[in-house]
Parts: sequence; C-alpha cells; structure tokens
Amino acid sequence: MNGKQGLFVTGTDTGVGKTVIAGALVAALRAEGGNVGVWKPVQTGGLPGDGTTDAELLLKYTGMDSYAEDIASFTFEAPLAPMLAAKQAGLNITLQDILSAGESIRNRYDSVFIEGAGGVAVPITEDASTADLIAELQTSVLIVARSGLGTINHTLLTMEYLERRGISILGFILNDGLSGELCLDPSVETNGRIIEQYSGIPCLGHFPELAGEIDSKRLIHAVQATINLSPVRDALTIRKMEEYR
Ligand SMILES: Nc1ncnc2c1ncn2[C@@H]1O[C@H](COP(=O)(O)OP(=O)(O)OP(=O)(O)O)[C@@H](O)[C@H]1O
Ligand SMILES: [Mg+2]
Repeated sequence: MNGKQGLFVTGTDTGVGKTVIAGALVAALRAEGGNVGVWKPVQTGGLPGDGTTDAELLLKYTGMDSYAEDIASFTFEAPLAPMLAAKQAGLNITLQDILSAGESIRNRYDSVFIEGAGGVAVPITEDASTADLIAELQTSVLIVARSGLGTINHTLLTMEYLERRGISILGFILNDGLSGELCLDPSVETNGRIIEQYSGIPCLGHFPELAGEIDSKRLIHAVQATINLSPVRDALTIRKMEEYR
C-alpha cells in the first residue's frame, strides 16, 4: 500500500477509543469531501449482526453506506487476539492473506484509515504482529491513547516499538472519554506535552468525552473542535474543504 493512501490507527491498548476516533476522523474528512474509507483487517469478539462489531460501528460513525463484510476482512467470534481467535475458528491466516484482502478495499477509495486490533505488539498471525502488518503496509501511524495517569508510559513504549521497525508516527490523540474521573486527575493537563517532549511526536489533540449515543454528526463536531487535522490531510494528500470549491 502506498504510504500516501493509508493511515494506520493503533492504540496503547484495547478499548482506548480507536474505533470512535478513527470513525470520527473519517467522518470529518468525508464531510470535507474526501473520498476516505475504512478498513478493519481483523476483528475479534463478535460476528456482524447486532451492530457491535468494529466494522458496524465504523460504518455507523462514518455514515458510510456499505456492508460490514466489505470493510472487515476477517472476523472471529472469540474475544481473543486475532492469531488465537483464528486458530479457535480452525483457520490459519497469513500476513499475505490480510494484505490481499485489503487491496480491494483500498482500491475503492483515495485513502483508507486502517484500524488495528488492540495494540502494536498483538499477534495477528502465527508469525506476525500488528507492527509487522503496519511495516508491510508502509503507512504512517496515528496512536490513540488514554489521557489519564499511565499514558506516558504506554504511549512512549508504543512509539518505541514502532520506531524500532522504522515505522513513521504521524502523531497521537489523547482520549478524554474513557474515565469519568478525569477531572480529579491532574496528569491530564500535562501528559500530552510530556509525551511530545520525550518522543518529539506531536499531540494532535484531546478527543472529548461524548456522553450518550455517539453518531456521525457529534463525532464530526468533536473533531472540528479539538483535533489538528492538517497532518492527517497532509499524510493522505487530502485537500482542505475550501480547496474543493
Ligand atoms: N470519547 C469518548 N466518549 C465516550 N465514550 C467513548 C469515547 N471513546 C471511547 N468510548 C467508549 O469506550 C469504549 C471503547 O472504545 P473503542 O471501541 O473505540 O475502543 P477500541 O480501541 O477501538 O477497542 P478495540 O481494541 O476493541 O478495537 C466504547 O464503548 C466506546 O463507545
Ligand atoms: Mg476498535
């Protein structure tokens, strides 16, 4: 995959907001007129049908008219790391299987956001981790992390793991929506700056907590109010809204 056409969204952990934030960014870029798609190479922990798989949520958040099966290459029911969930389903997927499946999705759009499973060291096949998949795809990475105490350690470790493989990191976004007690956590104020200082990688913003039903409109508004999208547009060679007019 051409690095200009993809952005890999990873996280410091599972459940840190990759789906919400990837969906929000794609929704915001599509609202500007960008022909941006989403790809979930491997998802685990449920099958499409009840609206809770990442693929279904990504479609809901982005407002895209597509089938979950069209944007999720491999889905496994077991709530395990992809390699183990595939094994439990009696399948042995290879990195090449995943890359081939992604080709057709990429061809449908000018650029694609790719949501990984869990974090960078998660095994996705017998011999490859998420970081190996990113290296093969040759895309830049956006890291989603919690904004509270502990995030400096998790985010710097994630960055170092990626950099050791020569993967370029576009930036990180701190998610304020994962703990109801953030107002009591003074580290939220300074974590972004300290991660920037120690890594040299920019914080693109704090994504706000969205209480209640999350939909495309609210996500677009949240991105416009809080996230610096310029580096994302540049990485994907997407022009700004005014330039489409
Ligand atoms: N900013 C936010 N405001 C409110 N709720 C949020 C926010 N960010 C994430 N959540 C909620 O936190 C949970 C985890 O978020 P999400 O599914 O996006 O994480 P993830 O990193 O994609 O997880 P996975 O590793 O399973 O793919 C979800 O229930 C989601 O709705
Ligand atoms: Mg997810």
